[in-house]
Amino acid sequence: MAMTGNKVSLKHLVTMETLSNEEVMGLIKRGIEYKQLPEAEQLSRQYFAANLFFENSTRTHKSFEVAEKKLGLEVIDFEASTSSVNKGETLYDTILTMSAIGVDICVVRHPDVDYYKALIDSPTIQTAIVNGGDGSGQHPSQSLLDLMTIYEEFGHFENLNIVISGDIIHSRVAKSNMQILKRLGANIFFTGPEEWYDSSFDIYGKHVHIDDVIDQLDVLMLLRVQHERHDGSESFSKEAYHEQYGLTVERYKQLPDRSIVMHPAPVNRDVEIADSLVEAPKARIVRQMQNGVYVRMAILEAILNGKA
Ligand code: CP
Repeated sequence: MAMTGNKVSLKHLVTMETLSNEEVMGLIKRGIEYKQLPEAEQLSRQYFAANLFFENSTRTHKSFEVAEKKLGLEVIDFEASTSSVNKGETLYDTILTMSAIGVDICVVRHPDVDYYKALIDSPTIQTAIVNGGDGSGQHPSQSLLDLMTIYEEFGHFENLNIVISGDIIHSRVAKSNMQILKRLGANIFFTGPEEWYDSSFDIYGKHVHIDDVIDQLDVLMLLRVQHERHDGSESFSKEAYHEQYGLTVERYKQLPDRSIVMHPAPVNRDVEIADSLVEAPKARIVRQMQNGVYVRMAILEAILNGKA
């Protein structure tokens, strides 16, 4: 596939740590190019992609599918519920099968943190692995679409005040974003309940109360409260969370003019963000979903470059 610039070649995409700053910027800029000129160029041969989602997804699954189709890839149907997973087939054996039948790229979401390690270390598996989310581990394609959204807005990352807010310890989005944003020069602050924070994040930024930083921030990254990863022992009040930690209408009014509000979605309305603010002028939640298609085209193209 011909490229106009920003050439990135990848064997797999499983974490943000494994990408250099140049590769990150190349993928962001290529995503922006696809947004401006979305027509895919002819592929040099037939390529097959499969999306294997062992956890629920709307955005990641369907935007990878749109990206694959825009690029001209053949998309192989896979539903865990009707596959041989129900006969006890392991993830390794499912991917081994995909590789054996000639699938070039597998986009995988799985509840196990680091599920991809055995797959990319296998001497037999030839298919490229694109991590669509591993439990509470990493979500690199979400991180790249978030970076693209910030870069489109500000044109840089250095010295931006970025607040990552909410259920940080359970969030793969937060884990991918905190380390790459720090590496790109942003100032990171964390807000939200102390029990959903871990001191290991201190190397990336400082934990503060949202009201201490609301009028100085450039980017507010809200996170979904991940009830499915909680053990059920804690009582939770939606109203109390919204008032203490969420983006209320009152807090929205205190945001600087230049600032933007992000959320990976799905949104718990009136919990992380007031219902009326999801599509407010500063909100970029719909833009994030749109950008997801283009940055995922850039990721898939980089994998195909790696194969070429
Ligand atoms: N943001 C995100 O990963 O959404 P889905 O779970 O719907 O894919």
